[in-house]
Amino acid sequence: MNPNLSRLHPYPFEKLTKLKANVVPPAHLSPIALGIGEPKHPSPEFVKRVIADNLDRLANYPTTKGMDELRAAIAVWATRRFQLAPHSLTTEAHIVPVNGTREGIFSLVQAVIDASKPAIVVSPNPFYQIYEGAALLAGATPHYLACDGDNGFIPNFDDVPAAVWEDCQILFLCSPGNPSGAVIPRATLLRVIELADQYDFVVASDECYSELYPDEANPPEGLLQACAAIGRDDYARCIVFHSLSKRSNLPGLRSGFVAGDAGILKEYLRFRTYHGSAMPVQHQLASIAAWQDEDHVRENRAAYREKFNAVVPILRAVMTVDFPDAGFYLWAHTGAMDDETFARELSAQKNVHVLPGRYLSRTVDGYNPGENRIRMALVAPRDECIEAAHRIVEFVKQ
Ligand SMILES: Cc1ncc(COP(=O)(O)O)c(C=O)c1O
Repeated sequence: MNPNLSRLHPYPFEKLTKLKANVVPPAHLSPIALGIGEPKHPSPEFVKRVIADNLDRLANYPTTKGMDELRAAIAVWATRRFQLAPHSLTTEAHIVPVNGTREGIFSLVQAVIDASKPAIVVSPNPFYQIYEGAALLAGATPHYLACDGDNGFIPNFDDVPAAVWEDCQILFLCSPGNPSGAVIPRATLLRVIELADQYDFVVASDECYSELYPDEANPPEGLLQACAAIGRDDYARCIVFHSLSKRSNLPGLRSGFVAGDAGILKEYLRFRTYHGSAMPVQHQLASIAAWQDEDHVRENRAAYREKFNAVVPILRAVMTVDFPDAGFYLWAHTGAMDDETFARELSAQKNVHVLPGRYLSRTVDGYNPGENRIRMALVAPRDECIEAAHRIVEFVKQ
């Protein structure tokens, strides 16, 4: 077997299952799941209808590159959303549809990493575990940058030693961040681009939460937008990942895209021809409908906004918790109790399920930036989220 398989870490939810192996939650309280970041708002009816109306397309093999119409819909969406120079993000060379960003992130790393020379993948810490697993399986070495309250959950990239940048082949950004929700500002994105040019690495920006933001007038900026702002219209060394999972409540559609540097994407597409992960035609057609509509996304944002506005003030009675810049997570401080104990006892006493922060992060030089935090995904219906917040208040007070 591939020896790199043994380098993989258990997935956060495997650890959570183990943590709660002997926990018997009180039967009189209904379970409330805030642990897993799976969107729970209803999928748009008009998207479901497109799939139902096109089931006969199961008879067709889809192409790896996807339909021109899908890439065109994505180009229109991304150009408008991120204020890109007209026609700079071409359907021909700058966009590759993927079966969700998880698959896209994993496969891009396999295509980019050259393990015949020293290869480092730099990522935030805590982080989405696919960054690390993809790096390990590609034969690269992960390097983690702590994101905590002291740095506003965004690393100071100028603190990274030159020796790390010299071997860096991919830098992962996650903006809005999972779990913190922090949005990386343009000035930082521009600094990262300078470093990428200086040291010749790929900036891979995971922006799958970019459409869930509190202020309609202030959507998070993305990496391509930062490129556009400086006239870098070839998006050199820059790659972004976007998804319909959170934006459109379609996690089961498995639909996203990778966009940016045409040279990288040309080789990535070649890789994908063999990787064999083309999106089914009826899902491509449904994706076109989803990327072309913003009304359902505005409704989605409004539903999250309502939940954050209701839940955060309740929780603040007992814990330190901020409104996130964007996304659907709360990344709350557990105070004197450690995060594992907090999560286990909260399940045992209140049947509310959250994720210990340390399961999303690694200890580096004795410091784990996820310790003493829990991640709560406000995906459950509003009333359940409010009920969970009240139970957490009772739990902490007890
Ligand atoms: C930070 C981050 N990136 C990527 C993904 C993958 O999403 P999808 O594959 O549904 O697009 C997730 C899913 O939870 C995530 O949290």
